[in-house]
This record gives sequence, structure tokens and C-alpha cells, in this order.
Amino acid sequence: MSTVALQGSSIDLGAPAAERDIDRGLEHYFVESDAFRRVLRGETTVILGNRGAGKSAIFQILARRSRGNGARVIELAPDDYSYEMLQRTMQTEEQGSWAKQGAYAAAWKYTLYALVMKELCKKQVRSKNASEAAIRKYIRTYHHQPGMGKLWALISYLKRLEGFKIGKYEAQVKTKELERLYKLEEIRHLVPHLQKALEDQRVVVVIDELDKGWDSSEDAQAFIAGLFQACVSLNGLSVNLRLYVSLRQELYENTPSLYEDAQKYRDMIESVSWSEADLYSLIARRIRYALPKLADAPDQKCWNTLFVARPRKGANEPFRYIVDRTLHRPREMILFCVQCLHTAGERKVPLPLGLDTIVLAEFEYSRGRTHDVAAEQRFQYPDVLSVFEAFRGHEHTFERAQLEYLMLEIISGELTVGVRARTWLADFDEDALIDVLWRVGFLTAEIAVSTQRRDGATPFVGHHQVPQLDVRNVRRFAIHPMYRAYLGTREP
Ligand SMILES: Nc1ncnc2c1ncn2[C@@H]1O[C@H](COP(=O)(O)OP(=O)(O)OP(=O)(O)O)[C@@H](O)[C@H]1O
Ligand SMILES: [Mg+2]
Repeated sequence: MSTVALQGSSIDLGAPAAERDIDRGLEHYFVESDAFRRVLRGETTVILGNRGAGKSAIFQILARRSRGNGARVIELAPDDYSYEMLQRTMQTEEQGSWAKQGAYAAAWKYTLYALVMKELCKKQVRSKNASEAAIRKYIRTYHHQPGMGKLWALISYLKRLEGFKIGKYEAQVKTKELERLYKLEEIRHLVPHLQKALEDQRVVVVIDELDKGWDSSEDAQAFIAGLFQACVSLNGLSVNLRLYVSLRQELYENTPSLYEDAQKYRDMIESVSWSEADLYSLIARRIRYALPKLADAPDQKCWNTLFVARPRKGANEPFRYIVDRTLHRPREMILFCVQCLHTAGERKVPLPLGLDTIVLAEFEYSRGRTHDVAAEQRFQYPDVLSVFEAFRGHEHTFERAQLEYLMLEIISGELTVGVRARTWLADFDEDALIDVLWRVGFLTAEIAVSTQRRDGATPFVGHHQVPQLDVRNVRRFAIHPMYRAYLGTREP
């Protein structure tokens, strides 16, 4: 038996983004939830989740499994859409009174139809099927644009609509042409053919990373709202055609045109969330995959190989310590554990790692997460990082009155915060600011003693755990432990 202690740096826990993780072993250690199974069956098609919650992971596995079952899969990648470019190219609603959302919905339908038909034309074995022939002919005539990006059709269709909406055409021509465009006259006759072709060929379309480059502009909002509508419409075409969209939770909640339609879409929406038990298993599976000798070991043995075993109830138990410093997202678990291994590697600490190593790794993790959370909020609450900074060096916990006082100091300008934070803070009172800090996961709230958790966790809970909690009734708050190391906050 080898007597050499296991070195942490030799253990690969995978990549923190699913697009790269898929080639590192995601298929082997993917945690399959009920939510995922509903998606796989095509029952739910809109996936909502926070950053790093696992939206892309679901799509990556969905795409692989679908291909494995003979489906054709179209993946729309982030570079395919550029909000900045749309905003530059398209006229604003004010410039011409055109309802953008409807235009985007029509253009999206047109584009997605074309993408699906194009994909069907790629089939190696051509059938003599008349429907396929009709589709092939159409694609050859209208969509043979080598070198143009996947969304070329979208832009060109929007431009056509815009032309008739605000161009100088005679009213009569205008109305007729617009109607033709909205009704997708060009491809209407192909829809039955498409349905026929889909009878023996499944097609899956996944649209991910819509938040990349998101600028909450008029065009960005219409782009997404229109896409939702188009997907709903195309999903009704055939059981063998499924279009999936993922969206960041808060982007969805802050886009009224989407959120107000929520009732209509509710049954198609899947929200990704994680329990502590699932996060425990998420890491255990990765350790098991990295260390073949653990192939048949239970989860606990995997954890104990990486981290020193401690009584499960204590706040210093490694899993407890780590998970308490997350907002319950897989990416955070992976980043923190990888940082622990990295720190151990640098200092040549053998496995299993004790709390001292975890604490050493914590600063870097905490710094990274504080900046990430602030970056996630940059459109709604620009410079929120400088508001977090106002807590530097304070005690971890606050009585309501103390917290309100600090909020007032921020709002009144007594404490300096970023210039861009001033713009949104102008409309805020102390309650509203507390509410924002609660919702972005910076503050946690003390809940009634009777409902305190018995597993050694603190009596403070975060928005990710109890989103429905009304913080106006909360008496004590604490800074979420994730930010503490970076902000150098103190025990009371
Ligand atoms: N069900 C799962 N099983 C195993 N690993 C997962 C699972 N879900 C997510 N992960 C892992 O967690 C990390 C973050 O997931 P992912 O990249 O899918 O997040 P995301 O929601 O797409 O985030 P972003 O909004 O930044 O794109 C990745 O390493 C991914 O492989
Ligand atoms: Mg992603």
C-alpha cells in the first residue's frame, strides 16, 4: 500500500461552467432531478435559474441524450445574439410607432421555422417524401446564405417589418404587406409539410445564455418576449419538435413583458433550485469520479476523503461550513471546494483537509463571489459593490435599528458609495434598501426561534431559502457568511 498522502491538487472536480464541464465528466456525475426529467420528457420547456444554478448543465445533458436517441439538436450559442447590435440596427419604438414585441415574435417564428427546416435538410438519407422535397426547395431558394450567422434570418425579417412599419410606403400597400409578414405568408404553406417531416424525425432546439450581453434595452426585452411567444407557438406544432429556453431568474422577474405573461406560461416553466442534500451529493459524485478507488463508496466516504470528518451537527463541519457560505448553487460549491484543493496544493497540505485550510481558502472564494454577485446586479443596481463595502469591518449581525441607521447613512450620502449607486439610491428609503440587500442575498434574516434549524446551522436564513419572507417584520439581520471573509466583518 502506498504511504504517500493524497495531494489535493491531483483531484479534478470539474469546470465551474457546464459548457466546459461536459468534456470533463459531467455526464458521469450529473445529478438528475425531477425537474430535469420533466424537461427531458418535453413537459417543461422554459428553465429559470440563478447564475451557476445549472441551466446549461441541463441543456448539455439534454442535448447529448437527445442526440443519443436519434434526435437532431440545434444549439443557439451566445455569440449568435448581440443586443448591442440590435439596438444599433433597429429604430426605437418612439421613432416609429411600431409594437416591437409582436415584430420580434413574428421574426423569431420565421427564424426558428427556417432553422428547423434547414436542420431537416441535413439528413444524410433523403427520403422520397414530398414534404421533405418541398422543404428542401424552399430552403435552397430562400435560405442559402453561406457564411451568415444563425440569426441572419431574424435581423433581415425584422428589417423588412421595420421598413413597412416606418418606411414611406403608401398606406394600403403598407397594411397589406405588414399583414403578410406578420402571418408569415412566405412559409405558411410549408407548415403541414414540416409537421409531416417531423413525424419520423425528432428535433430539439436549445437556446441558452440569453442574458449574455443583456442590457435591458427596448430591443433586448422585445427580443426575449418575442422568443417566448415564438417557442410556445412552435412547441404546439408537433410532439417531435421541442424548443427550450433558459433564462436567469431575476432577468425574468425584471422584464415586465415576460413576468406579466407568467400565468399563461406557468405550466411550462421549471425553476432550478437545490437542497443541501443534493449539493452534498453533487460534490461527492465528483470526488468519486476523480478517485476511481471510491467507485463504490457512499457519499460520506467521498467527503471524508477530501475533508476531515467532524460531527455532522457542528457549524464547523466541513460541508456545513462550505454550504453556509453559498446561495445554494452548484457553481459556488465547486468553486469553494476547488479553491480549498488549490490552497492545499500550494501549501502542500495532505488530504483530508481540516477547517484551517478551508478558512485559508475562504478569502479568495469570498472575494470572487462578492464581485460576482455585484456584477450580476449591474443593470438593476449598478455599483452595488460599493454598498456592500459600507459593511466592511462591521459586526456580522445587526439589530433592525442599527441596520436602519447604517442604511440612512448610505442613502443620505454620509457614507460614500459609487456615483452610479447614487442614481438608484435616490428613490430609496431604509426599508427599500434593506429589501434589496435581502433579495440579492447579501443580508440574511433571523427567523422565529421555534422554526430554527436543528442541524447546527444558524437561525438566519437567506432569500434563496425563504423567498416569500416579508423582511419588514424581521428584528435581526446578519451579513450572509459568503461575504464576511472578504469584507472583514467581525463576530459580535
Ligand atoms: N445537475 C447537475 N449535476 C452536476 N453538476 C451540475 C448540475 N447542474 C449544474 N452543475 C454544475 O454546476 C456548475 C454551474 O452550472 P451551469 O454552468 O449549468 O450554470 P448556469 O445556470 O448555466 O450558469 P450561468 O447563468 O452562469 O450560465 C457547472 O460546473 C455544472 O457542471
Ligand atoms: Mg449557463
